[in-house]
Amino acid sequence: MNILITGGCGFVGSSLCISIKNKFKEYKIIAFDNFYRKGSIINKKRLEKIGIKVIKGDIRFKKDLDKISNIDLLIDCAADPSVATGKKKNLRYLVETNLIGTLNSLEFSKKNKAKLIFLSSSRIYPFEDINKMKFKIKNDQYIPKENFKNCKKKAISEKFKTKGIKTFYGFTKYSSENLIEEYSYANNIDYIINRCGVIAGPWQWGKIDQGFIVYWMICYLFKMKLNYIGYGGSGYQCRDILDINDLSALINKQITNFSNFKNNIFNIGGGSSRILSLKNLTDQCNKLFGFKKKINSISKTRYGDIPYYVTDYSKIYNLCGWKPKKKLETTVFEIYKWVNDHKKTIKKQIEKI
Ligand SMILES: NC(=O)c1ccc[n+]([C@@H]2O[C@H](COP(=O)([O-])OP(=O)(O)OC[C@H]3O[C@@H](n4cnc5c(N)ncnc54)[C@H](O)[C@@H]3O)[C@@H](O)[C@H]2O)c1
Repeated sequence: MNILITGGCGFVGSSLCISIKNKFKEYKIIAFDNFYRKGSIINKKRLEKIGIKVIKGDIRFKKDLDKISNIDLLIDCAADPSVATGKKKNLRYLVETNLIGTLNSLEFSKKNKAKLIFLSSSRIYPFEDINKMKFKIKNDQYIPKENFKNCKKKAISEKFKTKGIKTFYGFTKYSSENLIEEYSYANNIDYIINRCGVIAGPWQWGKIDQGFIVYWMICYLFKMKLNYIGYGGSGYQCRDILDINDLSALINKQITNFSNFKNNIFNIGGGSSRILSLKNLTDQCNKLFGFKKKINSISKTRYGDIPYYVTDYSKIYNLCGWKPKKKLETTVFEIYKWVNDHKKTIKKQIEKI
C-alpha cells in the first residue's frame, strides 16, 4: 500500500509515519509538508533516516499535490491546529489550509482512487455551549455538575450539538467534515473522520496556544514565565489527554480493516480516566523537575477557551474494542523525558519562535 500523509512532518503526521512504517514495513509512505510549524523541519530528518520520503509542498495549492500519484490512502494531518488563529491574524491562511486544503485532498483522493482518513477535532463542538454548563471543583479540576445534553457520564459523544460558535479553527474542521461527507458521497470515496481531543506526546513542538503539556515543561526547563489564563486564573480548566501512541494504534487498526470503519465519524480521546488540569500539570511538573514554580494568574478568559473537555469514545470502542491504554502519568513522564533529552534542540527552536 502507498500512503500519503499531509502535514507529515507535524506532531501527529510524523508520529503516524513512524508507527505505520514500524508496523507495515512493506508500505511506501510519503510525508508532505510546507514546514509552517516551527520544529517540523526537525521531524523531516527523523523521517528520512528511516526511509520515508518527504516532499515539500503546500496543501493550499492543488498543483503541489498533482506532483504525487499512485496513492492508495491519504491521511490528512496538515493544518494550523490552533484555536487562537484567525481572531487577530492568519484567518486566510487558516481557511486556505484547513478547509481549501481538505478540498484539495478530496480531489486528490478522487483522482488517485485513494481512501481518506481525516484528523478532525473536538473543537467542532460549540464552545459557548460548554461554557454555559455549571461546574464544581474536584481534584483541582472543573467538573460539570450535570451531563451534557444527549450525552452520558460527563463526557461528550458524537450526539452533542454541533451548531453554534466554535472558533475559526473549529469552523474549518467542521466545514471540512461536511465537505468530506458531501464530496465522498458524490464521488464514491471511502473516508474515516476521527474527531480528536487533546493529543500529547514527545516530538510535539508545544507553544502557548497549542500543545500545552510540552509548552508547560519547556517553561519549567528554561525558567520561562507561566500563567494560568482565564476562568479566574485558577488553573482548574482541564482536558482528557490522548497519548499519541494510542491514536497511532487506532489508525493502524483502521488501515488494516478500513471497511469496518468507513464513512463514519468517531470521537477519539483520552476519556474520563485521563483528565489533566493545568494545576494538576503544575503539581506533576513540580515533582518531576524538583522545584516549585510560581505560576501567575490572569483571570480574563481567552477567546474560544473552554473549562472542560472529556471524550466519550464508546462509539469506536463498541465497534472495534479500541480504548486508550497508556496511563496519564506515563504520557506526562515520557514528555518530561523527551524535553530533557532534547534540551539543546528545543532551545534552538524557542529562539526562533
Ligand atoms: N494535536 C492535537 O491535540 C490535535 C487535536 C485534535 C485534532 N488535531 C488535528 O490533527 C492534525 C495534526 O495536528 P498536529 O498536532 O500534528 O499539528 P502540527 O502543527 O504539529 O502539524 C501540522 C503540520 O501541517 C503542516 N502544515 C501547515 N500548513 C500546511 C500547508 N498549508 N501545507 C502543508 N503542510 C502544512 C505543518 O508544517 C505541520 O507540520 C491537524 O489536522 C489537527 O487539526 C490535533
